[in-house]
Amino acid sequence: MALVPKHIKELSPYKAGKPISEVQRELGLEEIVKLASNENPLGPPKSSIRAAQDSLMECHRYPDAAAFELRDKLATRFDLKMENVVLGGGSEGVMSTIMRTFLKPGDEIVAALNSFIGFRVLANASGNHTNWIPMKDYHYDLSSMADAINDYTKIIYLANPDNPTGTYFTVDEFDRFMSRVPERVLVLLDEAYFEYAQNAANFPDSMHYRYDNVITLRTFSKAYGLAGFRVGYGFGHADLIGNLLKVKLPFEPAIPAQSAAIAALDDDAYLLSALTVNMDGMDQITTTFDEFELRYIPSVTNFVTLLFNDGVQAKDFTQTMLENGVILRHLIGFGLPECVRVTIGTTDENEFFIDKLNKIMEKTV
Ligand SMILES: Cc1ncc(COP(=O)(O)O)c(C=O)c1O
Repeated sequence: MALVPKHIKELSPYKAGKPISEVQRELGLEEIVKLASNENPLGPPKSSIRAAQDSLMECHRYPDAAAFELRDKLATRFDLKMENVVLGGGSEGVMSTIMRTFLKPGDEIVAALNSFIGFRVLANASGNHTNWIPMKDYHYDLSSMADAINDYTKIIYLANPDNPTGTYFTVDEFDRFMSRVPERVLVLLDEAYFEYAQNAANFPDSMHYRYDNVITLRTFSKAYGLAGFRVGYGFGHADLIGNLLKVKLPFEPAIPAQSAAIAALDDDAYLLSALTVNMDGMDQITTTFDEFELRYIPSVTNFVTLLFNDGVQAKDFTQTMLENGVILRHLIGFGLPECVRVTIGTTDENEFFIDKLNKIMEKTV
């Protein structure tokens, strides 16, 4: 239709990991394990479920547009002021607000090729030109990204650690990069997997930096186990955040989502067990990969990406696993056809996957 802009027509719809019910229907399998969408396998924190349930009686009302309690709690936790905190429907919701707030026609974006698809969709939907910079050996090539900054560059997107590679850039690399970024350019630092990565060697915790032109994005979707509630947050200079607050949808996140997030922030035991289960599971899965001499990219997140010789092998592996009841993510949509991403599950889910892997590998040897 003529009324649809060309850049929107050219977008492909976002393809999420297959839901369990769909695979069950299609393949008639009883037991299915989904290790495809980097979700927290523990289920939501019980404290969040209770808090969300308790909030339901308030749901004939609109949420507090200022989201005072959650923003205040986040500000206190990270030693900031409430004016430095913005919320959204997931961190992607905040990202979307950022794009709408800061990009004008003619502005350009710099981002890494093969990084988070959610950002790619937003960048392409914005109608602004993006300089997509190839990665080097599945790591951000920050020096080439800095080289790509020009007079029109407005936003640079960095996911640290990155999805789907699971790799990260260090304090030194980030410092060197930031020394080349003019103050008129906004750096969007996506730390969706921060809780998993925070203790990795020389990981740059952006909360220890106070650049006026950096907005840090974090989320309750991963380590806090609340992906379905859709709560994410951004931290930045009060002036930037103040303008985001003018543009954001006023009532996001919904009341139960805000209540769930507030409870999760107080639930240290849940976070600790999520991180422990993930660390043990990463060990369990990568040890098995080593035994089978399967190549993978070492990861500091809650997923690990397998490397095959080519796209056909990777696709076949994903399909065979699916037929055995394990949903994985073939990364063809990320432009990495030789890669298959495996999310770390519970010990039992990982064992199920390892058991199927044993079966498949026995057949191929
Ligand atoms: C790098 C990265 N950023 C952001 C997100 C989106 O998270 P949210 O659920 O907070 O929108 C994801 C989810 O997979 C991600 O991998």
